[in-house]
Amino acid sequence: MLFNYGDKCTRLLRQTCSRANMQLKLELIAAACENMGIGNNGALPWRLKTEMEYFTRMTIDTKDKNKKNVVLMGRRTWDSIPIKYRPLNDRINMVLTSQSLDYGDKAIVCKSIPHALEVIAGMQNQIERVWIIGGSSVYKDAMESPHFGRLYLTRIKKEFECDTFFPPIPNDFVLVTDPAVPQDVQEEKGIKFVYEVYEKR
Ligand SMILES: NC(=O)c1ccc[n+]([C@@H]2O[C@H](COP(=O)([O-])OP(=O)(O)OC[C@H]3O[C@@H](n4cnc5c(N)ncnc54)[C@H](OP(=O)(O)O)[C@@H]3O)[C@@H](O)[C@H]2O)c1
Repeated sequence: MLFNYGDKCTRLLRQTCSRANMQLKLELIAAACENMGIGNNGALPWRLKTEMEYFTRMTIDTKDKNKKNVVLMGRRTWDSIPIKYRPLNDRINMVLTSQSLDYGDKAIVCKSIPHALEVIAGMQNQIERVWIIGGSSVYKDAMESPHFGRLYLTRIKKEFECDTFFPPIPNDFVLVTDPAVPQDVQEEKGIKFVYEVYEKR
């Protein structure tokens, strides 16, 4: 009897956890230039203040002011953030690495995306959105994940020298609109760029 009860509890707990996991959606945000480059020498290949402000606004804003968003990134993306901007403010920073690193209270270290999702599921009522902020392999894994939600991609209409690239966008991704995203062409320092949003068809 006791065994059956325990068994039922375990099953219920698993179902609850998997329901919690199902609700989690990964939202990717990236900026890529015409050759789909996203980085060079461990930094961004461009300096576009408006684009950076867009990234900051999108990743910080929450409807529920009691909640925060997660920014989940690869270890090299974390390293690429200037120390004075680390951790990214008003967001829960999470870093993927295979190493035994410790960022203290600046960032939560996770060993894989599923591990990060487990950690996030444990704090779900404090979190509104989960933003994947790079780099290459993390974007690829997130686009292939059953938890993929949306891709927010800034297309910079210029070629830059890059050593890091955005992975191919799957054929079943379609453009959608989001009222929080400006639809007109942006321009800064003579460089044009547009904000796109994709979902899986
Ligand atoms: N334009 C943009 O939107 C944008 C966005 C983000 C980054 N960037 C640029 O991209 C470059 C950095 O990106 P990157 O692709 O080189 O590196 P990255 O993805 O940021 O970091 C790669 C590292 O993350 C860890 N990692 C990744 N996936 C993992 C997994 N599934 N499980 C465990 N650990 C995992 C590993 O760390 P360990 O080696 O420690 O195990 C791996 O070496 C920089 O130039 C940055 O400025 C641009």
